[in-house]
Amino acid sequence: MSLTYRVAPGGALSGRIRVPGDKSISHRSLMLGAIAEGTTHVSGFLEGEDTLATMNIFRALGVRIDGPEHGKVAVHGVGLHGLQAPREILDCGNSGTSMRLLCGLLAGQSFDCELTGDDSLRRRPMRRVTDPLAQMGAVIAATEDGRPPLRVTGRSDGLHGIDYRMLIASAQVKSALLLAGLYADGCTCVTEPAPTRDHTERMLAAFGCPVECIDHTVCVNGGGRLTATAIEVPADISSAAFFMVGASIAPGSDIVLEHVGVNPTRTGIIDILRGMGGDLTLLNERTIGGEPVADIRVRHAELRGIEIPEALVPLAIDEFPVLFIAAANARGETILKGAAELRVKESDRIQVMADGLRTLGVHADPTPDGMRIRGGTYHGGMVDSRGDHRIAMAFAMAALRADGTIAISDCANVATSFPGFAELAHTAGLRIGTV
Ligand code: S3P
Repeated sequence: MSLTYRVAPGGALSGRIRVPGDKSISHRSLMLGAIAEGTTHVSGFLEGEDTLATMNIFRALGVRIDGPEHGKVAVHGVGLHGLQAPREILDCGNSGTSMRLLCGLLAGQSFDCELTGDDSLRRRPMRRVTDPLAQMGAVIAATEDGRPPLRVTGRSDGLHGIDYRMLIASAQVKSALLLAGLYADGCTCVTEPAPTRDHTERMLAAFGCPVECIDHTVCVNGGGRLTATAIEVPADISSAAFFMVGASIAPGSDIVLEHVGVNPTRTGIIDILRGMGGDLTLLNERTIGGEPVADIRVRHAELRGIEIPEALVPLAIDEFPVLFIAAANARGETILKGAAELRVKESDRIQVMADGLRTLGVHADPTPDGMRIRGGTYHGGMVDSRGDHRIAMAFAMAALRADGTIAISDCANVATSFPGFAELAHTAGLRIGTV
């Protein structure tokens, strides 16, 4: 289905809004809930296409799941060894998180299965998980160049723990190995080159499965068991990010984003915006279910261009499309380096963002691992999101400061992570319509 956003220029963002639940935590609540003993009750669950793909897959693996209904889900866990052979090919849709984490989880089962996805997912690299999993004894076949579809041969007695030093900072790779580690003999240790989101580690602990974290290394022992728990999913900081940037760039804005997850492995967006002169205040900070949460007040501010510290790249990895919009509205130049990973996300986010920014008249120079953007004024125009949800939402926010309407094509995939985006953004003050 094709969907185009038409966003009229100007406006400001205000009020109090709650964006949908965190995608990473929602996926993990289903995965760990499914292999736990007992019923896991989830609230605040993201009812987006990506997490619904994971839900369908666990149903196909024999897990009874009630809901989702108003963000509530009950997962009737079958225990570590209770999953059943699926009768169908498992379709991950657009979701790299589903596919990569499931590689780890499915490698240690007593049955075989096949994983596939949409055109975008079938272009994405999988060796980053299949290579280290093979070192653990997993058998996963991919295309010749390491892409989906994947055929996973169950190795219920064949996995063994390894010490793995990750080549890229990837929470998906780390999580896949930890999930395989639950089925492996001995201890599985993963060392990351830089900190990445740690929701898997926190949630394993909440399910009563101890993980040991020392410096940049996290270890899990095989043969343990998970016990069902209650999970309250906070609002997704990656979805809140669009409103943080929108409010920062649009004069007169003053918005509160409620109940946002502010896990320190996810808050790069806040640090980068503050570094650019953004006015963000964390209110009512609390911890819910092992995850830090806050309300975030964002007011308009004059932004300035910066060189983005490379250490913040993994902590804001999904936020660069909208950070590029912040950069286009900042005084001076913003420089991003060390972010080659952006080229293998749902789209090549460096190239697709550079193309769109240039269409609007912004000075944007893509580099192999980042971008240079000179801030200033820009006009309206027709931008292609290439089916990438975060690119569609980023350009929608750009209209707050354009001097003409921005039309954005191929926006249906916004529903993968942010169902109801256009409606909620409209409520907050964005002049967005859909065709
Ligand atoms: C995710 C990890 C990140 C992120 C993705 C979600 C996760 O991917 O971009 O949207 O839930 O673990 P990488 O591990 O490829 O960096």
